[in-house]
Amino acid sequence: MKKLYVKTYGCQMNAYDSAKMADLLAPLGYAATDAPEGADMVILNTCHIRERAAEKVYSELGRLKKLKRGKSDMLVAVAGCVAQAEGEEIIARAPVVDMVVGPQSYHRLPEMIARAARAEGRSIETDFPALEKFDMLAAPRGSGVSAFLTVQEGCDKFCTFCVVPYTRGAEHSRPPQAILAEARQLVDKGAREIVLLGQNVNAYEGDGWGLAKLCEALARIDGLARIRYTTSHPRDMGDDLIAAHGDNPKLMPYLHLPVQSGSDSVLDAMNRQHRADDYRRLIDRIRAARPDIAMTSDFIVGFPGESDADFEATLKLVRDIGYASAFSFKYSKRPGTPASTLRKQIAEDVKTARLDALQKLLLAQQYAFDDSRIGKVMPVLFEKPARDAGQLMGRTPYLQPVHVVADTVLIGTVADVKIERRTANSLHGVLV
Ligand code: 5AD
Ligand code: SF4
Repeated sequence: MKKLYVKTYGCQMNAYDSAKMADLLAPLGYAATDAPEGADMVILNTCHIRERAAEKVYSELGRLKKLKRGKSDMLVAVAGCVAQAEGEEIIARAPVVDMVVGPQSYHRLPEMIARAARAEGRSIETDFPALEKFDMLAAPRGSGVSAFLTVQEGCDKFCTFCVVPYTRGAEHSRPPQAILAEARQLVDKGAREIVLLGQNVNAYEGDGWGLAKLCEALARIDGLARIRYTTSHPRDMGDDLIAAHGDNPKLMPYLHLPVQSGSDSVLDAMNRQHRADDYRRLIDRIRAARPDIAMTSDFIVGFPGESDADFEATLKLVRDIGYASAFSFKYSKRPGTPASTLRKQIAEDVKTARLDALQKLLLAQQYAFDDSRIGKVMPVLFEKPARDAGQLMGRTPYLQPVHVVADTVLIGTVADVKIERRTANSLHGVLV
């Protein structure tokens, strides 16, 4: 057996891709290991979304260089969005790297490994043969209780801050029958929850099916208890999908719908194609369909030209909506994106102050949301043993982690739990 170490950066789609790469290399005799020391092959599955994510890759490559001195036959691959964006530059800058493979071409890894074995030199695969990849990938070898499933990839929206349209390519959707087949395989391997992934997952459009119809068909799979999807764009939130939140009981009442900013002039400069009030009205409609739905979002502070008043508008929007949780980031200049050349870049200390203020508000909302569950009974899907002996970790419909004293036979089942208290990042409760 050869040892394969895959390190995943960034989003859930990268986690899905990493699992697919491991499945693909298993027939070649590679078994997963959890450290790079002694590995025969190391794959860094990288993220390019913000500056710091990309920098981490080069420092990891520095560490791998030392390891490779002691094990010269170790293969090093850079995969993911940094690979797609930087291609040749990685080869030039990091001699330790044997192969560079983009997110749409990793099904070619077996060929690339064969080329390396024949000492044919270092290889780069960064084409976009989009439709080919999924047909070439292996069936899942196993599954956790909660499984990711990519249904849509790429982005045609071109928000001015974002590298995704360049690294993941144009929007395209997998055919529904392929998705349903993969979902059934995952459920056979133990999945009880499926998280549908796409950069614009609610723009899903496969053989005339939208995401609502896909979720309806998925809900008919016996043994599948919960369906989630991420990440969505406000512009693609169609009436049928909103209605599905009221009609499809397996669709969880939790929606990640990034707004990025609460200021119309910033939204315009970001090319988001909606105003803050459009978003407010959309949330009203979603809440009318499913009153208990919990909302989450992504925010960027310090976008070029963002004034104090613009930032205040973001705080106002957050107060108006009320989020169960959210991610927030300082604007980070990305090479090749339109916003990176805007002149009115915001000073670092201003970005820091705004991020602190926003995160303080969002965290207070998160705690208030979590605290509002104390004393209530909620259905919890148990995923795995918790750190404390005798306890399991499960999740509520709102994705909150819950720790409960329970037998391991409950893993993979949904049971009612009375929530008793909250610690920083989790809830604690008892089986009822
Ligand atoms: N700077 C900061 N945050 C960014 N995001 C995307 N691009 C950038 C950038 N250049 C954030 C957005 C997006 C999330 C995945 O990452 O909020 O929704
Ligand atoms: Fe990036 Fe905007 Fe596309 Fe989301 S919708 S992936 S933020 S370009």
